[in-house]
Amino acid sequence: MVPRRALQTVRDALDRQAAVALLGPRQVGKTTLALEIAGQSQALYLDLEAREDRAKLSDASLFLRSYEDRLVILDEIHRAPELFQTLRGLIDQGRRRGRRHGRFLILGSASIDLLRQSGESLAGGSPMWRWVHSMYWKSSRMKRP
Ligand SMILES: Nc1ncnc2c1ncn2[C@@H]1O[C@H](COP(=O)(O)OP(=O)(O)OP(=O)(O)O)[C@@H](O)[C@H]1O
Ligand SMILES: [Mg+2]
Repeated sequence: MVPRRALQTVRDALDRQAAVALLGPRQVGKTTLALEIAGQSQALYLDLEAREDRAKLSDASLFLRSYEDRLVILDEIHRAPELFQTLRGLIDQGRRRGRRHGRFLILGSASIDLLRQSGESLAGGSPMWRWVHSMYWKSSRMKRP
């Protein structure tokens, strides 16, 4: 495995922020990094490209509320951008109960502007969110065989 500078960046961000979004082009290693974090933190990993995982989120608020004490990773978030709204509510509820950090790691490879827009409308300028942009990925990108 090629070590990733972004791994520590994401970990640090999760220690400080309720939600961290990791955006980048396809095939740069987003999912691999997320699974590495998941393995170390007993996170729940959901891939929104998988039908069974999307089904779990049919009542996302109800389902995710029972994971308030764990990091939840949502991969391929561009498949369900409407989730941002739900996440905002869950983050607010969690904060009132003292769950301020490390709740959601969100991965996406849609256009950064699109995701940033949803993020800003969601976050309302709040410091709950941290966006780790694709520059990290471009700078550490590997050549595929
Ligand atoms: N740190 C690493 N060292 C070596 N190989 C890696 C590393 N990270 C990812 N890879 C390899 O690169 C390929 C793409 O990784 P991955 O699926 O994690 O990317 P991705 O950004 O999630 O892609 P997509 O946008 O298509 O979902 C995989 O074959 C994976 O094994
Ligand atoms: Mg992926």
